[in-house]
Amino acid sequence: MIAPPDAASVSADSFDLMFLVMVVFSGFIVLLVATLVIVFSIRFRSGSRANRHEVRRLVSREVEIAWTAATAFGAMFFFWFASAHFLRHAAAPVDAMEVHVEAKQWMWKATHESGARELGSLHVPLGRATILYMNSQDVIHSFFVPAFRLKQDVVPGMTTTMWFTPTRTGSFHLFCAEYCGTGHSTMLGEIVVMDEAAFAAWLEARPGSGSLVDAGRVLFTEAGCASCHDPASAVHAPDLRGIYGRPVPLADGRIVTADAAYLQDSILQPDRDVVAGFDPIMPNFSGLLDEDEVAGLVAWLRTLERDDG
Ligand code: CUA
Repeated sequence: MIAPPDAASVSADSFDLMFLVMVVFSGFIVLLVATLVIVFSIRFRSGSRANRHEVRRLVSREVEIAWTAATAFGAMFFFWFASAHFLRHAAAPVDAMEVHVEAKQWMWKATHESGARELGSLHVPLGRATILYMNSQDVIHSFFVPAFRLKQDVVPGMTTTMWFTPTRTGSFHLFCAEYCGTGHSTMLGEIVVMDEAAFAAWLEARPGSGSLVDAGRVLFTEAGCASCHDPASAVHAPDLRGIYGRPVPLADGRIVTADAAYLQDSILQPDRDVVAGFDPIMPNFSGLLDEDEVAGLVAWLRTLERDDG
């Protein structure tokens, strides 16, 4: 029997518990049904002299109600069990370290906030929450770390997130868990969990290409964002100062929070979530900016302070 890898993230134990409970429960149902099938088919086989009227007594109305209610209760229990677990782990801690992950056929790229990059590996500190903002350049991939019990699709044209807090140092497998072409099985990587000091030293030693924020600041002007989004601009475009984390009312009546995923989507698909009171005049930057550049812009936008005068 293949044992699962040792649990190495904060949420892993509760996933394991949920899995175990479901396996035991399903196993019980399977055994119960199989046993009844076998017992009944022997007892009421052709030519047997068993009293067939006793079956009618067995399936009285009370029995029907009881087992229907029990099954419904079981289903409700699993719904509660899974959704409570899901909600508990849905939101990342606010102080989570952010890493941008880019998937392409057939490799994983990671960019840290400092601008440090790595290919096929991801170094993270022990005991600290890390949140991944993930994009794909081509097809759907899936970021799967068995030891963390976490898996998240990485989809072209949108940003998905995943977060974890590692509980053990070491190196853990990273797989692509969505068939993505001939090289799918080679789309591997490793998550290297280091203690805080070792991670700081590792990050320090990376040949930085300048921080993401600096790259974003330069690009904000070079790519032409500033010419419309500058508060002094003649073009009617939203003022982006202090945008990060704020609720944004949209033209279709929805209100969204301007998190990193929203900012990224707004650059790549500006027509999708148009801000209330503005015309959909922003050009679409997908294909014009690569993922690193978009990550830089988002990092820069997050630093913009609100100007209350
Ligand atoms: Cu990427 Cu499978």
